[in-house]
Amino acid sequence: MKEKLLRVLCCPACAADLALKAAAEAGGEVLEGELTCRGCGKTYPVRNSVPRFVETDKYVGNFSFEWLFYRKTQLDSHNRAESSRNDFILKTGRAPADLAGKLVLDVGCGTGRFMEIAGGGGAEVVGVDLSFAVETAAENMKGRANAHVVQADVFHLPFKPGSFDFIYSLGVLHHTPSTREAFLRLPPLLAQRGEASIWVYSAETRYERVRNAFTDFYRFFTCRMPIRLLWLLCHAAVPLYFLKRLGKPGALLEMVLPTSMSPRAEERVLDTFDWYSPRYQFKHTYSEVEGWFREAGLKPRRLGFPVAVTGVKQE
Ligand SMILES: C[S@@+](CC[C@H](N)C(=O)[O-])C[C@H]1O[C@@H](n2cnc3c(N)ncnc32)[C@H](O)[C@@H]1O
Repeated sequence: MKEKLLRVLCCPACAADLALKAAAEAGGEVLEGELTCRGCGKTYPVRNSVPRFVETDKYVGNFSFEWLFYRKTQLDSHNRAESSRNDFILKTGRAPADLAGKLVLDVGCGTGRFMEIAGGGGAEVVGVDLSFAVETAAENMKGRANAHVVQADVFHLPFKPGSFDFIYSLGVLHHTPSTREAFLRLPPLLAQRGEASIWVYSAETRYERVRNAFTDFYRFFTCRMPIRLLWLLCHAAVPLYFLKRLGKPGALLEMVLPTSMSPRAEERVLDTFDWYSPRYQFKHTYSEVEGWFREAGLKPRRLGFPVAVTGVKQE
């Protein structure tokens, strides 16, 4: 971790400042060390350059597996593509260049694919995740002076109130025990007139609700399966892609047995696993999400991709 991260960190237990003691350093970063709370005295390790505010990955073992395996599959810099960049713009409503000079929080950063987009626009980005995806994110962000990775739970975030100019969370909050409760942890971390953008799974259309009903039924079994068995089963998405492109019968098959239709075979397996493996997966409507924004004192604005909403913190 970089020492300058201390200015936004605080103890998740008592909110006091933290002191950093380094045991191993390289390239201006603390690789191993310890953070000690100046208030309650609790300690938090820094391992592999990441400050750790949780002892385990709790209910997101599937994401630890996923992001330690698919380390670069969705990284634009690796693919020489712009798909994560386009996704970022669609789901946050912000162009990366708008964020230049701002302090930004990526909640549920996974491999850091959106951190590299926001950081590429000139923002200083802090990525936080509960899973061991942080190992991958730290590796992917290595050498970037404007990127920080933290392992913590959205329900106990180790950040000082009012720290961030912009917070985004894409495809994350619906994977916690309560999407609304998880969202409500974010606005207090925004500076005045700061903005938050979230994207959560949609139950907006009838088609989505029917598909969701099918996958909720399958998920009852898939989330209880041994993780590697499920991952092997998800390879069925590779050939199913071709069957599902065969007119109406194909479309019907996709509705009753949804699998990823990404043109890239590796991403089809990843996305299908990503859908069927999480312990928690809720779907929401715009009006529900807009209600949470108002409740938190943010003025909501719908973005075009369901269900993505952004909102500015009111004075
Ligand atoms: C589907 S992945 C999305 C990752 C990234 N936003 C992206 O789109 O590439 C969901 C991420 O949310 C993280 N997550 C789930 N529950 C969390 C929690 N309570 N606190 C922090 N992160 C959490 C998971 O570990 C996982 O990396």
